[in-house]
Amino acid sequence: MFYSDDLIEEVRSRNDIVDVVSGYVRLQRKGNSYFGLCPFHSEKSASFSVSREKQMYYCFGCGAGGNVYTFLMEYEHYTFPEAVKALEERAGFALPDQEESEEDKRRQSLKSRVMELNKEAAKYFYYQLRAPGGAHAMNYLKGRGLSDETIQRFGLGYANKYSDDLYRYLKGKQVPDELLAQSGLMQVNEKRGMYDKFWNRVIFPIMDANSRVIGFGGRVMGDGKPKYLNSPETVAFDKSRNLYGLNFARTARGKYLLVCEGYMDVISLHQAGFTNAVASLGTALTAQHAGLIRRYTQEVILTYDSDEAGMRAALRAIPILAEAGVNARVLNMKPYKDPDEFIKALGASEFQKRIDDAQNSFLFETDMLQTAYDMNDPNGKTAFYRAVAEKLTGFEQELERENYLEAVAARYHVRAESLRKLVNSVALGSINRRVAQPQTQRLQRKEQEPGILKSQKLLLTWLIEFPALYAGVKKYITCEDFTGDLYRNVARLLFAQYDAGEHVPAKILDSFTDPEEQSRVAALFHSNLEVETEEEREKAFRETLQKIVAHSLDERRAGLDPADIQGLQRLLTEQKKLKEIAGENFVFH
Ligand code: UTP
Ligand code: MN
Repeated sequence: MFYSDDLIEEVRSRNDIVDVVSGYVRLQRKGNSYFGLCPFHSEKSASFSVSREKQMYYCFGCGAGGNVYTFLMEYEHYTFPEAVKALEERAGFALPDQEESEEDKRRQSLKSRVMELNKEAAKYFYYQLRAPGGAHAMNYLKGRGLSDETIQRFGLGYANKYSDDLYRYLKGKQVPDELLAQSGLMQVNEKRGMYDKFWNRVIFPIMDANSRVIGFGGRVMGDGKPKYLNSPETVAFDKSRNLYGLNFARTARGKYLLVCEGYMDVISLHQAGFTNAVASLGTALTAQHAGLIRRYTQEVILTYDSDEAGMRAALRAIPILAEAGVNARVLNMKPYKDPDEFIKALGASEFQKRIDDAQNSFLFETDMLQTAYDMNDPNGKTAFYRAVAEKLTGFEQELERENYLEAVAARYHVRAESLRKLVNSVALGSINRRVAQPQTQRLQRKEQEPGILKSQKLLLTWLIEFPALYAGVKKYITCEDFTGDLYRNVARLLFAQYDAGEHVPAKILDSFTDPEEQSRVAALFHSNLEVETEEEREKAFRETLQKIVAHSLDERRAGLDPADIQGLQRLLTEQKKLKEIAGENFVFH
């Protein structure tokens, strides 16, 4: 970054967010905030809010949020420096001469040149598929049940059987080798020099949410290996931030997205009318994917293959989605392997039924968890119930926890009362708990994560909403007690502001340049804290704080060298904090 932090903050503070956003969105004042129709997803009632006080925006519908920079980056697709520049000009004040760094300029122009080249290549593949030499590729696609319209819509193409055809074509257009080498379209080999990455394959162009071609997948027409070749990551193609099909799915009207594994899944789902399907293309779903999804919807149906690998992928995706605020359900495709096969065999209306029957992610997780225990053995059974109880403690809201508790009790034939007792004892004993756990220990630890992250998020939201709380909290907690990277960073920045007697939420966002992260941080500043009475609020706050401190102590104890007596002593002293918190009188205002 070439602008200094001071400058970034100066430019930001001279551009009032309400004024800037008003240039794009019609806003109406309601109380302390301004509301309008969200420009980042389609909606009929206004859930997009802009706060002059916080100098931030947030959409309660799609989760988009950030400060004035984020807004321009999202709306105008500006890079960060471009956003700073635009606002600098808007504010009409002369900044000390800031030359755009060579590095930034170079990267930006390389990216647009690679995209340009991708477009050229996509057109070329498209043409080849329709040329006489592409007839067998066309037959292959038709043979797989794709209609002309579908083939057209997804811009499918064909790389012919010559391994340097695209290379020569692009050279004919005077494209320099350096650019070709960075485009991902070519391979280089000492003996052969540069040649095409894709040949003798049908081609699936991969587009970003704005329908710009960022990469390609190529499938063999038959049983050859590897089945698919994909573009490598380039300046234009970041696999962890793009979802295949999102350019169409984002405008689909369904209130959820279908998330599946591959090219063919997406294409056949769209062809069958499920235009809200996207795929992470064989790679595991990342937090960035989840953040992207959250911008469009709060609900996902996981439509992964029904094999072991697909189930595991679903188990991994659930907490990642949850952390981004996306609720998941899991679709059962059995006895078919993937959506493509299912739809071919049973058709769209049967698939719709499976969507309607998709399983709640919590119950999917507990079902999967159960397979790790021997339910015929009393010990195994008890251990399973304890694991379930532990998972149940992840729900912060009592009503929600209670609903799940009852569902689980009925499902696994245990008395709700017994399970409730177990949940309470697990919750109480969490700090002293070091019971031997079965081989599923790793699984459990992972699944525990979202609960504690939720608590950390909640605490931050409270501290942001009620700055007065900080004085009471700071003797119990430091930013190091936050285990999620993002939350730890926010805590660090927030605490530093409070220590300095400042309260400038929008400034915190400047430290996060990634739009997904910015949205997650902005969400912290705009949560609705639903609590009824003061008393309840205090109780909930205390419990949240205790939970975070206990977790932090747990983590530190686990990492402690048993011979480190002093360390242990310190931990024991700190453990007293938990009791003290219980007796503390926290001031909200
Ligand atoms: P699948 O093997 O399930 O392929 O891999 P598919 O999408 O169902 O395709 P068809 O129906 O067999 O033609 C799922 C996804 O994993 C990635 C691709 O993105 C694929 O769509 N994959 C798979 C690869 O990248 N390379 C491979 O060799 C295989
Ligand atoms: Mn498949």
